Amino acid sequence: MTKLLVVETSPRGDSSISRNMTRHFVAHWQAAHPDSEIVERDLAKTDLAFITAPWLQAYFTPPGEQSAEMKEALHLSDELVAELLAADEIVISTPVHNYNIPASLKAWVDYIVRKGMTLGFDGKGMVSGKKATVLLASGGVYTEGSPIRDRDIARHYLNLILSVIGITDVTIIAGGGAKVVDLGEESMNSFIGKLDSSLKQAAA
Ligand SMILES: Cc1cc2nc3c(=O)[nH]c(=O)nc-3n(C[C@H](O)[C@H](O)[C@H](O)COP(=O)(O)O)c2cc1C
Repeated sequence: MTKLLVVETSPRGDSSISRNMTRHFVAHWQAAHPDSEIVERDLAKTDLAFITAPWLQAYFTPPGEQSAEMKEALHLSDELVAELLAADEIVISTPVHNYNIPASLKAWVDYIVRKGMTLGFDGKGMVSGKKATVLLASGGVYTEGSPIRDRDIARHYLNLILSVIGITDVTIIAGGGAKVVDLGEESMNSFIGKLDSSLKQAAA
């Protein structure tokens, strides 16, 4: 059975463009993978604290020497890593906030990049054989020819971090110019409809 991990980020619920992109992607993915399982990790509902000194102390202590408090500090990180490792495919769906990924998604990254679990002590990524799709919604347009192309940091960062942990089969679908939906200049259906063939192809 193929397992898809869907990481959702936007705090905007049904009004979220990235979440609507996910819905279309998942519908196509389910059609292409009838015998499958989908696991959702919603970062808008996950209490992800930023990294603290006790967390780092636990992180740098070998598992056999960790105290009960250290194990507790790493509990959510362990859970997120296990979710990632159990998946065959992963979708990361996110808004662009201030030219980068939202803090909740950065916190997820900090929790899943774990030495000896997802990143080897030799610096090589350990999460091999998985495919990832990144769904990005942004007010601005960052594609080829855009005057703000050099600010396409969210795309570059996610591509980089996925390759660092060993995921190199990455498709990125950019829902740029999404502000037209919020301004009421275009319907959600019409906006997502233009991305549908890319979403379908990525889900195949
Ligand atoms: C706090 C905040 C910061 C934003 N910063 C940017 C930005 O730097 N660049 C951009 O293109 N859009 C920016 N936007 C617009 C969002 O990317 C856009 O509304 C997108 O649709 C959000 O994704 P969502 O609909 O899935 O929540 C920002 C929106 C918010 C709320």
